[in-house]
Amino acid sequence: MTLIDYETVRAWAPVIKDRVENRKMPPYFIDKTVGVQSFEDDRSLTNEEIATIAAWVDAGSPQGDMSNMPAVPEFEDSVAWTLEDEMGRPPDLIIPIPEPFTVPADGPNWWMTFYSDTGLTEDRWIKAFETKPSAEGFPVVHHAVTSMEFPEGGGGFLSEYALGKTADINPPGTGQLIKAGTRLNWNVHYASSPDGLDRTDRTRLGLWFLPEGEEPEHELVRSHMADNEDLDLPGGEAAIRTDGYEFLDKNIRITTFQPHLHNLGTRQCIEVIYQDNRRQTLSCADWDFGWHIAYNYADDVQPLIPKGSMLHVTSWYNNSQSNPWAGDSRNWVGFGQRSTDDMSFSWISYYELTDEEYEAAVTERLGQTNPGSD
Ligand code: HEM
Repeated sequence: MTLIDYETVRAWAPVIKDRVENRKMPPYFIDKTVGVQSFEDDRSLTNEEIATIAAWVDAGSPQGDMSNMPAVPEFEDSVAWTLEDEMGRPPDLIIPIPEPFTVPADGPNWWMTFYSDTGLTEDRWIKAFETKPSAEGFPVVHHAVTSMEFPEGGGGFLSEYALGKTADINPPGTGQLIKAGTRLNWNVHYASSPDGLDRTDRTRLGLWFLPEGEEPEHELVRSHMADNEDLDLPGGEAAIRTDGYEFLDKNIRITTFQPHLHNLGTRQCIEVIYQDNRRQTLSCADWDFGWHIAYNYADDVQPLIPKGSMLHVTSWYNNSQSNPWAGDSRNWVGFGQRSTDDMSFSWISYYELTDEEYEAAVTERLGQTNPGSD
């Protein structure tokens, strides 16, 4: 479908009304009734915008005055860097997988490990990154995760891409260190070809750096949290709940929440349990496997969590016929790597705060609701 001129939009009017009223479109599924409510890069519609669209459909989708019709925008091709405009330049460093990889037409799932030399000759701090499968590879790249191997040992997790994900910009004052001579480890999941064609992919990671010599105040960390690999999703059940926990032995400031479930997932919530047993919901979001969306908290509401707290992640699944993504809902499903297996964790981006920094941040925040609004 295209939504670029009156005739094509009009043909979809009833479906558009349904999808925007149910907040299925635009894809951004944060629950507007609970938890933190202010996000960077929030592409959801306001209630007023939704009401305007619904009223237009109810009025018979009139064409209106054609002299007010805006020009059709120019669309970028699917492999252009989304961040190029915002960062004002193409990536400072582009690292492809070492050679093209072909997923055969009749292939099953493939989990590949690749290594790429970055060719970096100096240490740099990463401001932003974006992962792009090649145009032909898009339909088969389920995920592409990278970690760094520093020449003297050490390194760690760098970036995550999964379908529906665009790009990550580290919040002001933060960055990730990549060292001279770093080797990149790729973990790529290729799903089977959807259309009976061989598909050759060469996924690339683009990095934008902070200016040379500039050091961020804080090192940003991205991490799986509250993983639960003991999943038990009986066939035929529509509302199954799992829980995962992560004990925090340091003060942290959370900058991003990104749920991670597979085909059967429907919703995820994250709450904090403080040492005095108070509980506070940070966020809930509905889940659609086609959309891996990072919810970036606005600076003045980024949750400040004291050490000794527990993060509690609750996820829900639908393994019944009412879920179009369920393969054969008579089957039990458990944890696993295939999209038809399931998962339960949150990607959390955060940085650590010393006790003094934590106290200062809380003091600055006083007078505002912290960290949720429920
Ligand atoms: C007000 C804005 C939007 C409207 C009215 C809208 C409308 C729709 C409609 C009516 C469908 C068909 C759904 C169906 O048949 O079930 C759809 C599907 C889709 N839309 Fe949107 N959309 C909007 C924004 C977006 C944005 C911002 C993106 C990309 C970031 C997007 C990407 C897609 C994709 C990929 C599909 C295919 C189904 C899926 O993956 O969920 N749409 N949209």
